[in-house]
Amino acid sequence: MLHQKSRLAALGLAVSKINHDLRNLLASSQLLSDQLASVPDPRVQRFAPKLMRSLERAIAFCQSTLSYGRAQEAPPDRRMVAVEQVVGEVRESAGLASDAAIGWVSAIERGLLIDADPDHLFRILLNLVRNAAQALEGQTGDDVAPPQIRITGRREGAVAILEVSDTGPGVPQRAKDHLFEAFQGSSRPGGSGLGLAIAAELVRAHDGDIALVEGTIGATFRITLPDRPVELHSIRSERARA
Ligand SMILES: Nc1ncnc2c1ncn2[C@@H]1O[C@H](COP(=O)(O)OP(=O)(O)OP(=O)(O)O)[C@@H](O)[C@H]1O
Ligand SMILES: [Mg+2]
Repeated sequence: MLHQKSRLAALGLAVSKINHDLRNLLASSQLLSDQLASVPDPRVQRFAPKLMRSLERAIAFCQSTLSYGRAQEAPPDRRMVAVEQVVGEVRESAGLASDAAIGWVSAIERGLLIDADPDHLFRILLNLVRNAAQALEGQTGDDVAPPQIRITGRREGAVAILEVSDTGPGVPQRAKDHLFEAFQGSSRPGGSGLGLAIAAELVRAHDGDIALVEGTIGATFRITLPDRPVELHSIRSERARA
């Protein structure tokens, strides 16, 4: 019974996670299709492929989780990913490309490549960017800084470093205590407290790290993703073959 109980708990967590990110993904499809409905042909041409891409992503995500059939995520399928492109897709999916109220600054090293699963990287950044946008939306008053989200990316040797910052109120103390734990960190009405837990799980599956940077204006989350270690023996055997 105990075994069954823990399996059910694991399954419950898995279902919640699927539901969570599916909601994020479908929300972005909805944003695009809303626009599609009200515009003439040339713009349909522009939006339709993006809508398709978003839906494809949602479907592939469900499929891989279901066919992997475990409570954990499928292991990352890593390759060298062009970060600027992923960041652009995240911006569109969060509805921020057409949102003039929130400033967007992307300071990614030109041509930056990261050794990561592109779909995982997308989900990590979408969760962070959504949190940032939600923090900024809740803000009113004349004395607050102009709402802005900033993404930076750079490489230090074999490690890529990405930061997502906003000019919002910063992470409240009661959220800080369990920030990356499922269901524990939320201090937002309507929040489930899963976004950062999912982001952290995906980052760690890449042997990377995610942390809240202390002492900044607003909130800054830093992700470090090391390249996969080079397998020396496979290089040697390749040389031997050559
Ligand atoms: N950029 C941010 N600025 C201020 N607070 C933040 C920021 N990011 C996260 N938080 C705080 O951390 C909490 C946990 O975030 P998390 O993304 O895990 O859950 P959530 O956003 O509440 O719910 P959801 O599961 O829908 O993402 C949030 O409720 C919020 O209080
Ligand atoms: Mg969130």
